[in-house]
Amino acid sequence: MRLLPIAVLCLGLGACAAPEKPPADDDLYQALGGQAGIARIVEGLLINISENPRIVHHFQDTDIDRLHDMLIEQFCFEAGGPCEYTGDSMAESHTGMDLTESDFNALVEDLIAAMQEQGVPVAAQNRLLARLAPMRSDIIYR
Ligand code: HEM
Repeated sequence: MRLLPIAVLCLGLGACAAPEKPPADDDLYQALGGQAGIARIVEGLLINISENPRIVHHFQDTDIDRLHDMLIEQFCFEAGGPCEYTGDSMAESHTGMDLTESDFNALVEDLIAAMQEQGVPVAAQNRLLARLAPMRSDIIYR
């Protein structure tokens, strides 16, 4: 039992939030503009959310300073940058919100717009989105 592979455990439990490995290099981190670029993307994302009537209500009791810092850590880590993500898991932080696919898509659209505003190449935008996409099932319908 002690040696049961993680994959089998995940199947058995029906849900597994094991984090993906970060990329082997920091190409994506560089393409996003490094730490300063990621900070500008996150700030743009938070502004876009604040102006988005589809989802802004979900953030009315949120500590935005913490969310800002956690998103920067998360995007930096996921892009292969020199960061650890110290925040809560996606399941922990979104459980009880009962978020829908439409909420998820709205936030992704706000992120794409923020990356577009920063001149991030579309290929790099897609690489970051591909890193975040597997988190979807930990975020919606919880
Ligand atoms: C790819 C999609 C998403 C990512 C990567 C993401 C990422 C995060 C991160 C890193 C945190 C901080 C966790 C912590 O405080 O330790 C967080 C919290 C939060 N997220 Fe998301 N999120 C996503 C989707 C969404 C969506 C679709 C909504 C609502 C429309 C949402 C609403 C929130 C709220 C309200 C909090 C703060 C929770 C609290 O106050 O404790 N998130 N998210």
